[in-house]
Amino acid sequence: MKRILTGLKPTGDLTLGNYLGAIKQMIKYQEEYESFIFVADLHALTIPQDPHELQERIKKFIAMYIACGIDPKKNTIYVQSENAFIPAISYMLECTTSYGEASRMIQFKEKSRQNANFSVGLLTYPILMAADILYCDADYVPVGIDQKQHVELARNIAERFNNRYGETFVLPEVLISKEGTKIKDLKDPTKKMSKSEENPQGVISMFDAPEVIKQKIMKATTDSDNIIKFDEENKPGISNLINILAIMENKSISQIETEFAGKGYGEFKKYVGEVVAHEIALIQTKYEELINSQELDNILNDGIKKSQQLAQEKYELMCAKMGTKR
Ligand code: TYM
Repeated sequence: MKRILTGLKPTGDLTLGNYLGAIKQMIKYQEEYESFIFVADLHALTIPQDPHELQERIKKFIAMYIACGIDPKKNTIYVQSENAFIPAISYMLECTTSYGEASRMIQFKEKSRQNANFSVGLLTYPILMAADILYCDADYVPVGIDQKQHVELARNIAERFNNRYGETFVLPEVLISKEGTKIKDLKDPTKKMSKSEENPQGVISMFDAPEVIKQKIMKATTDSDNIIKFDEENKPGISNLINILAIMENKSISQIETEFAGKGYGEFKKYVGEVVAHEIALIQTKYEELINSQELDNILNDGIKKSQQLAQEKYELMCAKMGTKR
């Protein structure tokens, strides 16, 4: 059976972008593939985090995955930092990656420009991500478009390692849903909706109250055409809302355009707000049932056991191939 894997970094509350870009894809494929989903807490450490808040958020992420529809019976669910073989594998992969290759990553370039005191972890982060993917021989990695380059790097590293040391890793493929590639900020639809955005009006958190969600969508930035047509370049705001609705209702963009032909933006935004608020409210109800249950610990204990076993096997294979095994 093919394997699918994804991770999300707990640097803020999960957003609608994370849900539509990564989690919903995992839910779609969990019937078909052996699925792995984890909290990428080591990745959060590239920028300073409040330890108490980080600890809380890790737990919230796990409960939220399950509330969204990730089935613990069909998924291996775990916290990345509990598997110490992953950073060990990452180090060995770092030694087969050139500095030039790592420093060409777009996210590294952008984030290192924003902060002159960036950590070394910011540079090595995509290699840690390669370790996350390669240790368990994941065939498919569903992500939003912003992570595509990192999955491609993982594939390149795997290929190079295989060529140098012999067959060791499966070459992973990125999975990007056509519509879910990049959900945009509601206030500035030229940039992606992001957990770390300072203006909360542009971001829908999976923890926002239904009324807040409706109000944020009503106030989303749109053009003044009043024509519901998908055109990302000239009408980014309305295109983003069409995109969101298409994924939520599992419809194509042209189906949405046809259904709302001749209707105004006010009516359309009201409808999108209701659909999104309703789905998130159902998720929040499940989340409340889960967050304090013993069940979460049991799920994580099972998940980490399986993850550690696979990572240890891969680590030992790498040691043997690279010549460090006694
Ligand atoms: P992160 O935490 O930034 O985002 C988690 C996932 O959500 C997707 N995403 C979006 N998709 C569509 N529209 C958006 N506005 C949007 N914002 C975020 C991201 O593309 C991602 O799929 N490095 C990764 C986490 C990671 C990982 C991995 C992923 C660590 N190891 C191994 C896959 C496999 C990250 O920071 O994602």
